[in-house]
Amino acid sequence: MAISFSPLHPVFTAECHGVDISQPLAAEDRRAIEAGMDQYGVLLFRREAPLSTEQQIAFTASFGPLEPPYTQIRSTEGTRLENPALADISNLTPGGGIMARDDRKRLFGLGNMLWHSDSSYKTTPAKWSALCAHVIPPEGADTEIADMRAAWDMLAPRLQQQVRDLVCEHSRIFSKGALGFGFTEQEVRDFAPVRQPLVRRHPGSGRLSLFMSSHNGRIVGWPVPEAMMLLRELTEHATQRAFVHAHKWRVGDLLVWDNRCTMHRARPFDDARWPRDMRRTTLAGEAAVPAAA
Ligand code: OGA
Ligand code: MN
Repeated sequence: MAISFSPLHPVFTAECHGVDISQPLAAEDRRAIEAGMDQYGVLLFRREAPLSTEQQIAFTASFGPLEPPYTQIRSTEGTRLENPALADISNLTPGGGIMARDDRKRLFGLGNMLWHSDSSYKTTPAKWSALCAHVIPPEGADTEIADMRAAWDMLAPRLQQQVRDLVCEHSRIFSKGALGFGFTEQEVRDFAPVRQPLVRRHPGSGRLSLFMSSHNGRIVGWPVPEAMMLLRELTEHATQRAFVHAHKWRVGDLLVWDNRCTMHRARPFDDARWPRDMRRTTLAGEAAVPAAA
């Protein structure tokens, strides 16, 4: 059965059918998924049961090297998922209980509810993220994704001109710091800002894209309040409903997004009451292509 895509939104995001992602991919299926990702920016693979750790890693790694693990905030109770290739996007402790309200990992993770692009605070940010649903709460906890290529296309020409060649500084200090998260001195040193072009060319489609993220806290050469105001204005533009897809999870879903041309955010749920267990694999990126190139 050949791979096919059914769009889930007018401007991006599709569901991919006709491939068993728990098995090694045939070269033509891999190429079809790559082409689908380049076109849609986000693909949903719907399955009865979540992929195993090994299957999720193998599927992701068929598209390139995984992002190496890097400094994370640990739960007071230790690490739940043994394999460092999996990012633990859950509210659970290693024992399976719900994290305490003041657990640093929980407080840090609340920042996922701000619009962001994964690891934009790394010199070379992530390419794709693949998030697999193991346990979902009965209500809330959608993941919303916004199309940054459509956002660029629909930006007023005057603004396009103004922002096209700007360079920004990204750090988790800016994103989690905006929520009042308290960092240790060591973390402040570890989380030194990195520079990213505000507009980049998406390699697979050739289209220009805004590259935005809550981690973005400065525009190089700009006074800070003026920079923050412009970034807020751009974020508001880029996350208007016309560019946003809200994903309602089912157990077994694997949602794959291209961080180079989308932003996403978690939506709230009653995390003191319901377990939510999501596991993410992440593809390493390549140096950004600035708009001017
Ligand atoms: C992530 C993320 C959002 C969510 O996995 O990178 O931001 O809804 N997840 O859990
Ligand atoms: Mn994320």
